[in-house]
Amino acid sequence: MNDLKKFYQNNTTKDLNKWKHYFDIYDENFSKFRNKKITIIEIGVFRGGSLRMWQNYFGPQANIIGIDIDPACKQYENNNTKIYIGDQANEDFLNSILNANDKPDIIIDDGGHTSNQQISSFNFLFEELKIGGVYLVEDTHTSYAKEFQDRDDQLTFIEYAKVLSDELNDWYRIKHYKHYKQKIDQVNVSYWAQFIYKVCFYNSIVSIEKRQSETPFSEIR
Ligand SMILES: C[S@@+](CC[C@H](N)C(=O)[O-])C[C@H]1O[C@@H](n2cnc3c(N)ncnc32)[C@H](O)[C@@H]1O
Repeated sequence: MNDLKKFYQNNTTKDLNKWKHYFDIYDENFSKFRNKKITIIEIGVFRGGSLRMWQNYFGPQANIIGIDIDPACKQYENNNTKIYIGDQANEDFLNSILNANDKPDIIIDDGGHTSNQQISSFNFLFEELKIGGVYLVEDTHTSYAKEFQDRDDQLTFIEYAKVLSDELNDWYRIKHYKHYKQKIDQVNVSYWAQFIYKVCFYNSIVSIEKRQSETPFSEIR
């Protein structure tokens, strides 16, 4: 059993709201960051339990930032954990947090879960994630529930993430694919192609890892 699952199972304070199958997914995505000096942003503080869980898992060097729209969440602030009160879809608010802290290594979106909140937070914050960082969106099953759809264009986060997976292949969308090896350096690819290493789809979670891409190259040797 991994340490996150142990923490959850031993927790009796009713301040942690998690689906049980998430712990293996977290460990798969986050174990490389343990006991390092990192910055984590979690959108969605609720009763503060997940922030305690992250502190326990990542260790004392981790700088943890919680974001919530509910002013009552400010009470969970401590020496290692800062809490900011505001709307996750408000870019000015997010920018003020980024300006006051180191660039994040990990961003977890467990906030309001509407399509617009998930998409607009991702669009704004992914650029600010450190290279090598992971952006993880929870409860993406909300993409299939009408009450979470609040965008005029009807786009859900799951549909958006599928588009991002297409962007990984932006280099190969050139007109005459058979000549692509000669032209590959001239292809202007999207920001997403340049900085997304992988998009992982799990049950109710999508994680996106950021890396600086190299121009794809293959030859017979
Ligand atoms: C599912 S709970 C978070 C659970 C917590 N991460 C945990 O694991 O225990 C969702 C939280 O998102 C907050 N929230 C809802 N809408 C928000 C918004 N627009 N911006 C920021 N936080 C929001 C709610 O106040 C609530 O505390």
